[in-house]
Amino acid sequence: MSELKVLGISGSLRKASYNTALLKACAELMPAGMKMTYARIDDIPLFNQDVFDAGLPEPAKRFRAEVAAADGLLIASPEYNFSLSAALKNAIDWGSRPPNQVFQDKPIAIFSASQGPMGGARVQYDLRRILASSGPMCCRGRKSSSALRRRKSTRTARSPTRRRRSSSPS
Ligand SMILES: Cc1cc2nc3c(=O)[nH]c(=O)nc-3n(C[C@H](O)[C@H](O)[C@H](O)COP(=O)(O)O)c2cc1C
Repeated sequence: MSELKVLGISGSLRKASYNTALLKACAELMPAGMKMTYARIDDIPLFNQDVFDAGLPEPAKRFRAEVAAADGLLIASPEYNFSLSAALKNAIDWGSRPPNQVFQDKPIAIFSASQGPMGGARVQYDLRRILASSGPMCCRGRKSSSALRRRKSTRTARSPTRRRRSSSPS
């Protein structure tokens, strides 16, 4: 079997980034048969639909090609103001535009590192929400929304408030 290609994307541009360090640690822990390469996102210009339509700038073209060629992505993101870094969002914007959306059906695992007490939980939520628009495997839209609806209806049926209301005298 051929080697599985994992593309590591760090949302931090810092030299001493914890997120980039964790990606590197993941590469060391990978089993035989998997190989990690790292995407560069710091030279991708700010997304502009006019530029996209006129012809992809080289760094954006390279990023899209790397994502398309990978068997899966591992995204590590710092949490900036409860969300992802502008650099990572920009790269995702470039990759998400049709034709040939590069995140479509791509297996993606995400994680975050932050000194904050929540360890970047909010950026993980935001990343899922943003990536869901491009249909990768980390956030299967239809499946998760029907699961959410099921959970919601169960919760409503069992809601303590409802029980209290229904048992209180009218
Ligand atoms: C602009 C900015 C905003 C930040 N906002 C948050 C935040 O909302 N929550 C959090 O836990 N950490 C926040 N941090 C701290 C970073 O998550 C932390 O510095 C992290 O180590 C950065 O990742 P890196 O080490 O991979 O560069 C913020 C840092 C910066 C520079």
